[in-house]
Amino acid sequence: MLGWLRKSIFALRLNNFYNIMPIISIRGNEMPASPIRKLAPLADAAKQRGIHVYHLNIGQPDLPTPRAALDAIRNIDRTVLEYSPSQGYRSYREKLVGYYKKYDINLSADDIIITTGGSEAVLFAFLSCLNPGDEIIVPEPAYANYMAFAISAGAVIRTVTTTIEEGFSLPKVEKFEELINERTKAILICNPNNPTGYLYTRREMNQIRDMVKKYDLYLFSDEVYREFIYTGSPYISACHLEGIEENVVLIDSVSKRYSECGIRIGALITKNKEVRNAVMKFCQARLSPPLIGQIAAELHWMPPKNTHARRMTNTWNAVSA
Ligand SMILES: Cc1ncc(COP(=O)(O)O)c(C=O)c1O
Repeated sequence: MLGWLRKSIFALRLNNFYNIMPIISIRGNEMPASPIRKLAPLADAAKQRGIHVYHLNIGQPDLPTPRAALDAIRNIDRTVLEYSPSQGYRSYREKLVGYYKKYDINLSADDIIITTGGSEAVLFAFLSCLNPGDEIIVPEPAYANYMAFAISAGAVIRTVTTTIEEGFSLPKVEKFEELINERTKAILICNPNNPTGYLYTRREMNQIRDMVKKYDLYLFSDEVYREFIYTGSPYISACHLEGIEENVVLIDSVSKRYSECGIRIGALITKNKEVRNAVMKFCQARLSPPLIGQIAAELHWMPPKNTHARRMTNTWNAVSA
């Protein structure tokens, strides 16, 4: 003990003497800073020139949060703001079962783990399912933060490109197969997609299902934009795909559908018990999802009225005019 202490003091002195600092981790260096930071000053400068700027760069809906949620927070009547259970309140998870039922997604409360936003659900999915060096195939353009979460988990993102000429539809199966190797562990889709808005068709979802089955992969399906469908086409969730129920990990969030980004409530959903058990260990380590966020979210768990989609369509029409 004494020897260890002496060595540590010596190392400290040496560092001070040479004025050197411990170095940042490889992960810390590789972690990408948000690309949005580069856009913000340009937008500010344009505003100063009197130009109206439509902020499509950040998924912060410009609609008021539902009154029920605001009232729930105003009327909190508790003596202690406690930790909630690591998997989230059962009462809230049971209400969510009703929400998903409206989309023909059949779950039990045990299939649902409440997370700190969809962001934590992505991170915990990666940490629980992937080893360092494992690869995830992601159609791009894709939500930029997937890269940051993959780096946090030591995983590697491989991309298949979708193009505007093809309406951002799913690339051919061969394009995925060109990338599949012994390190490939998962496909990640965002449906409807951020940033393209593309909604996968039944045929495309079946193609994804067949690849997942054939190569024994996880399917991470980020469906936080479920309520933002502009075409009237049917929404096919990864949870609707038969035969890969144990492979699917659904990522969800209340941020977008209720304009509640700040309450930090999301969910990780899977029928795979082993995945849930692993995820729960990360949940227990971070103790609790946000208490106040759950109080607000539990009070209005129904699918929102379609005002968000209408408002977004207006923005789209304005910028494309
Ligand atoms: C596609 C997608 N997934 C997940 C998230 C994470 O959102 P949150 O952590 O607020 O739930 C975002 C946020 O912009 C997103 O665009």
